[in-house]
Amino acid sequence: MMRVIVTGGAGFIGSHLVDRLLDEGHSLVVVDNFDAFYGRAIKESNLARAIANSNCRLVELDIRDTAGVRALVSEFHPEAIVHLAARAGVRPSIESPELYNDVNVTGTVVWLESACRLRPLPRFVYASSSSVYGDRHDAPFRETDSVDLPISPYAASKKACELYAHVFHHLHGLPVTGLRFFTAYGPRNRPDLAIAKFTRLIDRGEPVPMFGDGSTRRDYTFVADIVNGIVRAIENCRGHHLYNLGNSDPVVLHQLITAIGHALGKTPIINQLPAQPGDVQQTYADITRAATELGYAPRTPLAEGLAAYVDWYRAHPSLRQ
Ligand SMILES: NC(=O)c1ccc[n+]([C@@H]2O[C@H](COP(=O)([O-])OP(=O)(O)OC[C@H]3O[C@@H](n4cnc5c(N)ncnc54)[C@H](O)[C@@H]3O)[C@@H](O)[C@H]2O)c1
Repeated sequence: MMRVIVTGGAGFIGSHLVDRLLDEGHSLVVVDNFDAFYGRAIKESNLARAIANSNCRLVELDIRDTAGVRALVSEFHPEAIVHLAARAGVRPSIESPELYNDVNVTGTVVWLESACRLRPLPRFVYASSSSVYGDRHDAPFRETDSVDLPISPYAASKKACELYAHVFHHLHGLPVTGLRFFTAYGPRNRPDLAIAKFTRLIDRGEPVPMFGDGSTRRDYTFVADIVNGIVRAIENCRGHHLYNLGNSDPVVLHQLITAIGHALGKTPIINQLPAQPGDVQQTYADITRAATELGYAPRTPLAEGLAAYVDWYRAHPSLRQ
């Protein structure tokens, strides 16, 4: 039993983590400002089960509100902080680099600094991203690889979070673990992500925009597998660590579109468009470190994960954007 704060707990990955931690009997504060990146109704639905649990309190707060964050941590005294709140998404970060820097970097510094004021120091687990690896042609990606060449403001902001996490660990001894998620998908999927968009379009019989020649590949990772990894990371959070949380089984875009069509029982119509700036050619996690040190073991094949997503999609027609 631990007192845990989850920032971004109303979001896609965060709300699954919140449900899991409540099932394990932990006492939670969810911090989220219901940022306008996508609809509030989706986030309220994500949290519906959690809010009904007396072990869960929702605090609507901007992660950059230093005074509000300090007051909250000194009152609740968390034993662990899982910091997932961020502006996510590569392409929109190119339009709004200052906003991404402000929310993702300043917001993370506010939480790291506030955490360091507590005694005993809490465990601090935070979301990084596979995008820090940049536009690589060699694979799989290992945590020991250099990550000095990001190609989007979003990726640079996540790399900056990793740098600050090390700073606060070094200066204050804060136990910190960074998790590089590789394209999470599943029920409650963020509506801007490819799997959600493609599902809507194929279901309506509309053409799917395929950027590039369809050969880009992503290491799609089912959200429950990622949540297992986060829970293991909380349990093992000491010192300073970074882990890839991926599926280690990348899927080519063309194959993904076919697999979504299969899950829906419909034939996709493809509209090929030029490749998008900021998009990398591939992501592919080497998960040896997370497997060895955390016991992380993703076990959901794509077809099974897509079937679970399509079930959720069909059960929530009002949440399709
Ligand atoms: N989904 C993925 O594939 C993926 C991959 C790599 C990294 N990540 C990272 O994982 C984390 C969770 O991603 P997600 O896909 O669940 O995104 P999400 O957008 O569904 O969740 C993020 C949550 O943070 C909240 N938030 C945003 N700005 C805030 C602010 N200023 N103050 C308080 N709350 C704020 C949002 O309202 C949202 O509920 C993010 O840090 C993201 O960058 C996600």
